[in-house]
Amino acid sequence: MRRFEGALRAVITFDGPAAAGKSSVAQRVARALDVPFVSSGLLYRAATEVATSAGVDTSDEDAVLRALRAHTVALEPGSAGNRVRLDGRDVSAALHTDLVDANVSFVAAHPRVRDWVSEQLREVPPPFVVDGRDMGAVVFPEARHKFFLTASVQERARRRVGERAADLEAVAAAIARRDALDAKQLEPAPDAHHLDTEGLDLDAVVARVLGILAERGLAPPAAKAAAPRGGGASP
Ligand code: DC
Repeated sequence: MRRFEGALRAVITFDGPAAAGKSSVAQRVARALDVPFVSSGLLYRAATEVATSAGVDTSDEDAVLRALRAHTVALEPGSAGNRVRLDGRDVSAALHTDLVDANVSFVAAHPRVRDWVSEQLREVPPPFVVDGRDMGAVVFPEARHKFFLTASVQERARRRVGERAADLEAVAAAIARRDALDAKQLEPAPDAHHLDTEGLDLDAVVARVLGILAERGLAPPAAKAAAPRGGGASP
């Protein structure tokens, strides 16, 4: 029934908790491999924007679904970032507001909203790199390359705000709260490569991932040309 059944193996998934660096890493890997990057979180944010704009109680699954069915939401993947169109209008800039942040975990907890997001993602033609919480375990179980990025709450807070002690505690508390709210959705695939990114900067994580992919025979186009013998083992 699904389109691209075999091609879905060409999807690369990045899952993990909030602020683990998934989208930055996924975007860099997508660019290196010259394939689109797809942000699943943006679709949950778009669903939340639709529900809150309609004045719907976001804990009411039926009402959220009714609001979603009344609109057309389209995700436009790209290597630099994703755009979301709501009834043809670009609403990308409106998806990171405090209101969306405060409601998105509740909207994302509804099983039929998750089905709505999954269906849209499965319509995207592979190959691409996608980030989320359950991309490898639930949405693209057939993907060949799956990564699960982790880091401590303190490390993730530091990455978000730097070392400024004043903000650090509040941001760490907010991340821990989000972890608790997203816990049910956060599911590592049994065949995911777990990467503890504690103490690693973005360049180091990207290098690790590209090294692992190269070991598996998936080298970036430029690297392939520069190093036809392959290799590229990670440290
Ligand atoms: O990745 P993000 O912060 O933009 O995600 C926004 C919210 O959507 C986050 O609270 C968790 C949820 N989400 C999810 O449940 N499943 C996904 N695959 C992606 C995001």
